[in-house]
Amino acid sequence: MSIGIYVHIPFCKSKCKYCDFNSSDKLFDLEDGYVKALITEIESCEQLDKVDTVFIGGGTPTAIKTENLLKIINSITNHFNIDCAEFTVECNPATASYEDFVKLKNAGVNRISIGLQSANDEELAYLGRIHNYSMFENTYNDCVNAGIENINVDLIFSLHQQNLNKWKYTLDKVTKLKPTHISCYSLIIEEGTPFFNMEHQLPDEEADREMYNYTIDFLGQKGYKQYEISNFALDGYRCKHNIKYWQRANYLGFGCGACGMYEDVRTQNTYDIKEYINNNQVEKTAISKEDAMAEHIFLGLRLTEGFDIEEFNQRYGVNFIRKYSDIIDKFTKTGLMELDQNCKLTRKGVSVSNSIMCEFL
Ligand SMILES: C[S@@+](CC[C@H](N)C(=O)[O-])C[C@H]1O[C@@H](n2cnc3c(N)ncnc32)[C@H](O)[C@@H]1O
Ligand code: SF4
Repeated sequence: MSIGIYVHIPFCKSKCKYCDFNSSDKLFDLEDGYVKALITEIESCEQLDKVDTVFIGGGTPTAIKTENLLKIINSITNHFNIDCAEFTVECNPATASYEDFVKLKNAGVNRISIGLQSANDEELAYLGRIHNYSMFENTYNDCVNAGIENINVDLIFSLHQQNLNKWKYTLDKVTKLKPTHISCYSLIIEEGTPFFNMEHQLPDEEADREMYNYTIDFLGQKGYKQYEISNFALDGYRCKHNIKYWQRANYLGFGCGACGMYEDVRTQNTYDIKEYINNNQVEKTAISKEDAMAEHIFLGLRLTEGFDIEEFNQRYGVNFIRKYSDIIDKFTKTGLMELDQNCKLTRKGVSVSNSIMCEFL
């Protein structure tokens, strides 16, 4: 079985007002030290499995010096047994040039994930983004011209004063560019972010669901099939790396705050950048069978195709249908869940996915 690799880059040019990811816009003086520590961590990993997905995320990987990013990429490709991998780098508009994309491509990167969030400049300003829509388009075109055609665009809906028409405008603009993959997240106001203490006029629950349902229909018509609650792809372009998370496959995590999972043992790195550089402590936790099963269901139900019931039974040595018969009955009778070879949520179920998933925990 092949494994995935996640690498965390905790730097951003500027902190967006809604974001609570582990990243800082103030610690660039630590960049070189961080890259050194990261490469040491990567190169001291004894792992013989083939690697078929690599995801360098953040933060903003393209916010660091390109030579540093290339050093990290080279350490991964030289150290591990990389086999036809999907190799993704996350990028923020206006943090990478055409030349940078050419260098990334030559180093083995074949997928770029660009955070756009909105095609409306006033929404971008409200979010605290460092770019406008036209800067995103330039970055997007630089990436295509450099020969990387597998591109994801991240979007956020249910924004302050947003209505369906404004969201339609964003979806329309983005689909015209024909990226291979689009991720659409409903805004979460996270505690500890500037957004948490601001006044917002957010769409209500009904308007949020209207935007979400519109997204599924509109993107479907344009050839982007929904395959996960927030993810849509053209045929053949689902994100193989993220699918590993939802299927509880093995992956390694490098960098501050990164976690990994290998054979039901979770690894968690030191969260703080400085502490990570000075002395990364990897916390290892064995996942109990009950927790592993709950996770498998919780994550598997995020995928529109759900999870394979027989595979579940084999993996955990239980009978899924017998074990969870009461919950399954409740949700199949109300048309929220479907069972064939797989267990999956119906479209109606996806809208209330959180409450369904909680019942299995
Ligand atoms: C780790 S971020 C990295 C992308 C890149 N740094 C950028 O912002 O352009 C991944 C994505 O998570 C989404 N995201 C981050 N915070 C969010 C929030 N509070 N609510 C909804 N989506 C969020 C955004 O769409 C973002 O692009
Ligand atoms: S959304 Fe992206 S660019 Fe903005 S602060 Fe978070 S990780 Fe950085």
